[in-house]
Amino acid sequence: MSMSKSILIIGGGSHIGQAIAQQCSIDGALVSVISRQSAPDHSAWFWYQDALQSEDSSQQCIEHALQQQPETIFICNGVLHDANAMPEKTIRQLDSEQLAQRLHSNVIIPAQYLRSLFGYLSRTPQVKVLVLSAKVGSITDNRLGGWYSYRISKAALNMLVKNVSLEVARLNPSACIVAVHPGTTDTPLSEPFQRNLPQGQLQTAEQTAQRLLQVRDALTPEHSGTLLNWDASVLPF
Ligand SMILES: NC(=O)c1ccc[n+]([C@@H]2O[C@H](COP(=O)([O-])OP(=O)(O)OC[C@H]3O[C@@H](n4cnc5c(N)ncnc54)[C@H](OP(=O)(O)O)[C@@H]3O)[C@@H](O)[C@H]2O)c1
Repeated sequence: MSMSKSILIIGGGSHIGQAIAQQCSIDGALVSVISRQSAPDHSAWFWYQDALQSEDSSQQCIEHALQQQPETIFICNGVLHDANAMPEKTIRQLDSEQLAQRLHSNVIIPAQYLRSLFGYLSRTPQVKVLVLSAKVGSITDNRLGGWYSYRISKAALNMLVKNVSLEVARLNPSACIVAVHPGTTDTPLSEPFQRNLPQGQLQTAEQTAQRLLQVRDALTPEHSGTLLNWDASVLPF
């Protein structure tokens, strides 16, 4: 696996983000994390806690983290369910507050981070950004329905990534900004839905991290603006 000398993982407290951080640490990279969570004891990583209470504090976290000049940036924030709500099976379960919360965590937070990153992305040669999305956010691929708030928010996230990739490319054609489906991964996010999965579909966070880092290694500017599967194949929007 090729090595990124410096990597920034936003939403780095996520199970997938932590596994990416561990793998990159083993590979000898400088690891920076932005997370709502406080730094673990004895962390060898640069850790910036962002309580997500103001846009200014997020901006400051980004400014500090960019001092490590990351060549790769992952954005891992995403919520499918929480203590208050499971994904909707029917539109009759749609709750506007739940939809607003999913749009906030899955689109608005990544959008604010990308806005803060824009100057850096526009001037940094070969910089790569991988935003963790989901295949269920593909409108073309949607054959089952359900999961309204999550699907809507991930579809909007895909549009955000496409838009930013176009704007950055005008200033920095060597950049690559993609949305990536990590594959079904054994984390609290997927835990309630793992029972009926086809055998072999569920990956550990460590396996997913390795796959995502292989996707990162394969990225070229021609991929920018696409939605990629965990094996680097292009998924339809
Ligand atoms: N697991 C899967 O099977 C699967 C499948 C498809 C897509 N994904 C996507 O992969 C990404 C990582 O998922 P994961 O499985 O590692 O899940 P996870 O462990 O539950 O992590 C999700 C992370 O999102 C951030 N987050 C949580 N609530 C938030 C809020 N209200 N506002 C902003 N950020 C919030 C947190 O980051 P901090 O703790 O660092 O603040 C949290 O650790 C997500 O975008 C998810 O949609 C996962």
